Amino acid sequence: SAQDDKNSKGKLSVVTEAGFMPFSYLDKGELAGFDIELIDAVLQEAGYDYDIKNVGWESMLASVQNGEADLAIAGITINEDRKESYDFSSPYFESTHQIVFREGENITSGEDIKDLKVGVQSGTTGAEAAEKILGANHPNIAKYDANTLAFMSLQSGDVDAVVTDNVVASEYVKNNPDANVEMIEDPDTFESEFYGIMFPKGSEVTEDVNTALQTLIENGTYTELYEEWFGT
Ligand code: ARG
Repeated sequence: SAQDDKNSKGKLSVVTEAGFMPFSYLDKGELAGFDIELIDAVLQEAGYDYDIKNVGWESMLASVQNGEADLAIAGITINEDRKESYDFSSPYFESTHQIVFREGENITSGEDIKDLKVGVQSGTTGAEAAEKILGANHPNIAKYDANTLAFMSLQSGDVDAVVTDNVVASEYVKNNPDANVEMIEDPDTFESEFYGIMFPKGSEVTEDVNTALQTLIENGTYTELYEEWFGT
């Protein structure tokens, strides 16, 4: 472990929000996921010891912004808005949005959710994507503190559709065969975006993390992790 690394540079405080399978989630109470394994490999490579805490999405963002936490990883999209308040690593994953909906709804494009009740996780790019279609703060958009709560509302019928990150949508549909949900992608409506590791503005850890990330990409570790979690 990083703890045994003789180059250890000190202990970092890492935060995540473990409601985003397969990137960050709880497996029998333990943190699991692509992001969890990636950050472990990166920080070992960079010579940092760390502890990692699962906190809510908003507190995760707040604790990085005020410097209480050294970094966050949780399928976080790099965008211009956030770059005003945070620093980011180089991109490590490409993503887009998808619509998950109950089987039988006639949804074939992004525009088809215009007159439906749509669930999103508040403060995410999925929420923005839904607002682009329905309108900002549209009353038919239900904002939840967690993505998992949006999925629960879809199952219970409180919303007709959920807009969320594509890989998380696919994972949910695959893991819940009895939920009777399906999904669509619509590249004309939903843009591509990239995940990054998030740091407080001016953090000195960012460069070390980027160097380590680049090493893991070059030495095949990143590809191994990618194939383990997403197939070849
Ligand atoms: N990629 C989206 C964003 O950054 C959603 C991230 C949600 N992550 C989570 N752990 N719930 O806005």
